[in-house]
Amino acid sequence: MGAAELIPKAPKGEKQMTNVERVCAFLDKAQTYYLATAEGDQPRVRPFGTALVYEGRLYIQTGRMKPVSRQLEKNPKAEICAFTDGVWPRACGELVDADRREPKAAMLDKMPQLKAMYSPDDHNTQVLYFKNAKATFASFTAAPETIDL
Ligand SMILES: Cc1cc2nc3c(=O)[nH]c(=O)nc-3n(C[C@H](O)[C@H](O)[C@H](O)COP(=O)(O)O)c2cc1C
Repeated sequence: MGAAELIPKAPKGEKQMTNVERVCAFLDKAQTYYLATAEGDQPRVRPFGTALVYEGRLYIQTGRMKPVSRQLEKNPKAEICAFTDGVWPRACGELVDADRREPKAAMLDKMPQLKAMYSPDDHNTQVLYFKNAKATFASFTAAPETIDL
């Protein structure tokens, strides 16, 4: 069995999930993932929890006032890593700033606890989606598997 077999799948008989949906379902299950960015030649990493599939893309959310946002503006290359149930996916690619109200509202609807701090109409809320991205699922018990996002 490959590691990707361990990631969430739609129940038998139901429509199969896309790769993006499967990665997002894993992030939801893990609850916390770690987002790495670059600040010049210095790697930066921090815990994140926001994840949403919107129009077939994997979105995350942050605040424009945060250093992470400024790092991604200068260099959109990023990697995320999560771990749960013996499996750790790493997704890497570019994070594109989607300055649109709809995905911001969808993110806050999925994660209503964010509404205490963010609104789709403020100037701080930022959602970004992965572009040119791949996710590799690894485990100690199976060969790594890479899927396109
Ligand atoms: C479990 C957990 C989940 C988090 N999820 C997010 C998130 O999805 N988006 C976000 O902007 N900050 C999130 N944070 C807060 C960031 O980790 C924190 O603001 C961090 O300092 C941002 O990185 P920076 O200082 O390099 O900008 C989360 C923190 C924790 C502990």
